[in-house]
Amino acid sequence: MQCLGKSFTLFVIFLFGDLSFTHGGNVLVLPGEYSHWYNMRNIVDELLNRNHRVTVLVSSASPTVNFTQQERFQYLVFDVPLKAHEVHSLSEQLVNVWKQYPRPNKVQIGLQIMDLLGKIRKMHLTMCDCMLRNETLISRLTALKFDVLVYDPMIICSDLLAEILDLPVVLSLRFSLGFSMERMCGQMPSPPSYVPVPPTEMTDHMSFMERVVCCLFIRVSDGLDEFG
Ligand SMILES: *[C@@H]1O[C@H](CO)[C@@H](O)[C@H](O)[C@H]1NC(C)=O
Ligand SMILES: *[C@@H]1O[C@H](CO)[C@@H](O)[C@H](O)[C@H]1NC(C)=O
Repeated sequence: MQCLGKSFTLFVIFLFGDLSFTHGGNVLVLPGEYSHWYNMRNIVDELLNRNHRVTVLVSSASPTVNFTQQERFQYLVFDVPLKAHEVHSLSEQLVNVWKQYPRPNKVQIGLQIMDLLGKIRKMHLTMCDCMLRNETLISRLTALKFDVLVYDPMIICSDLLAEILDLPVVLSLRFSLGFSMERMCGQMPSPPSYVPVPPTEMTDHMSFMERVVCCLFIRVSDGLDEFG
């Protein structure tokens, strides 16, 4: 219920954010890396165009986000005991596993991937610790009184940050069939009559038949998930 309440507040914020006589919201953004950040940039630019204030929180080891660059928004950088090239190297190694030629057997690939995912998980844990356990950073973020956290789920502890700061969230990445992962794992509210799901390419203005199609896609994807 609280979740729905927050979503509704957010909906109202965005609804009125469009009208020129209101003040903009104060948005905290946690971007992902690589293409995820380039996509998020468009959202950030659009928020700025609509008079919202934006702060982008990023780790000091980000391989993609150039936080030394002067922007229309402010960067808040949290320190992590890692270097950008180390973070980049892990993603690169993961890509290289797929590109190997001749391909080693499936067991070898599986072991390589498991080893890399273990390292990536350790890196994420370090980053989460640096972000969530730094009281100076948390009190600074609290003092900035944000209205909402917009985040890329690629940053794994973003939802914990939202909980600590008591902020409603907007996810930038939606990808699973029928939103089944987002709904079941991420508790994303997604009433089928109002929220069109992938792979339908509809907007929030749906005709009756489109709403029916949306409901059917949700049923089918949930069925597939149960099956899988
Ligand atoms: C980051 O931005 C700074 C300042 O604009 C610039 O000098 C530098 O070349 C940029 N770095 C990269 C990797 O693009
Ligand atoms: C905590 O965050 C502040 C502000 O971002 C930073 O100056 C400080 O070095 C961080 N402390 C630790 C232990 O990382």
